[in-house]
Amino acid sequence: MDNKTVFSGIQPTGELHVGNYFGAVKNWVRLQDLHRCFFCVVDMHSMTMPYDVAVFQKNTEEMFVSLLACGLDPKRCTVFIQSMVPQHAELNWILSCVASYGDLTRQIQFKEKSEQLAATVDDPTSGGFISAGLFNYPVLQAADILLYHGAYVPVGRDQEQHLELSRVIARRFNKQFGRDYFPEPKVLSTELPKLLSLADPGKKMSKSLGEKHVVPLFGEERVIRARVRSAITDSGETPEGELSPGVHNLLGLLRACDLGDTAATFENQFRSGDRKYAPLKDAVADALVALSSGVRARRAEIAADRDAIHKLMHETADQARTVAAQTITDVRRLVGLPQR
Ligand code: TYM
Repeated sequence: MDNKTVFSGIQPTGELHVGNYFGAVKNWVRLQDLHRCFFCVVDMHSMTMPYDVAVFQKNTEEMFVSLLACGLDPKRCTVFIQSMVPQHAELNWILSCVASYGDLTRQIQFKEKSEQLAATVDDPTSGGFISAGLFNYPVLQAADILLYHGAYVPVGRDQEQHLELSRVIARRFNKQFGRDYFPEPKVLSTELPKLLSLADPGKKMSKSLGEKHVVPLFGEERVIRARVRSAITDSGETPEGELSPGVHNLLGLLRACDLGDTAATFENQFRSGDRKYAPLKDAVADALVALSSGVRARRAEIAADRDAIHKLMHETADQARTVAAQTITDVRRLVGLPQR
């Protein structure tokens, strides 16, 4: 264990999917024995898109439980809920005055999500509304990380631009207010930093694409098998000796499930022109079902004691708050705000 801090977060929008797991969460479980780790259910980030209050509340708690079921151990890391630590919102404001408007306008996720929302202009509920929170989203993300002096941030590839902005914000803060106060956070990637949708291997697996594009980590066996069975493998245009994006994606999943030898055997077969799609899909489905049944059992066990979950949520938020409060005391002094 070294003295470097790891920070990462996940939005409680819907259920954990295998992209989240292999791109980030599996790595979190490994890192908790190597560094001082904080893992956060970023509920305030999920408020930047339209949402249903009751579903959102339920999902936040479910995500907390799901992370524990994946192997995050409150004795070895701090897993907590963002909004229960008010310092995230406070540092967000201070860093909003350090981040540049121009940098925020160049964020790809803002462009994509705001276009998605603009397209709902005829929807009577959302009406194409784009919140200022969505624009400010990456500043809150920088605040999350920097509150804990996060040096390493294990995330998937889609978060790299946000991380680059966190580095810029840390650098600008240090230059303006206090040399080297914040570390410049570095990305830690897994071997599967961008899992593609099985239904459309031209796109990243993502909750926002819709149900059929994700394989839920805690899904029932029949759902997982059906999603893998309907994976797009080849459009018939892949040249001899090469792998289509869909096949490449499935092989990546096998490797991520620690089945590198099986993946190598399939890869050789495919490259030599022997393209047996059904056995490849069966192997992937079997591996995901095995993974899922383990975490599902664990989740059911944890979820059975709601009082214990609520107690734990408060304890971990207290731990995070102690660290965050010290950072805010320092930051208020550095930026010239009165002490409280
Ligand atoms: P979120 O909730 O969209 O995703 C959580 C994590 O899962 C990774 N991920 C993927 N990795 C590989 N392949 C995929 N198809 C895939 N889809 C998602 C994401 O890269 C992420 O690591 N903005 C963040 C949450 C956040 C955060 C933070 C992260 C808020 N504050 C501070 C790190 C540090 C997000 O929306 O992740």
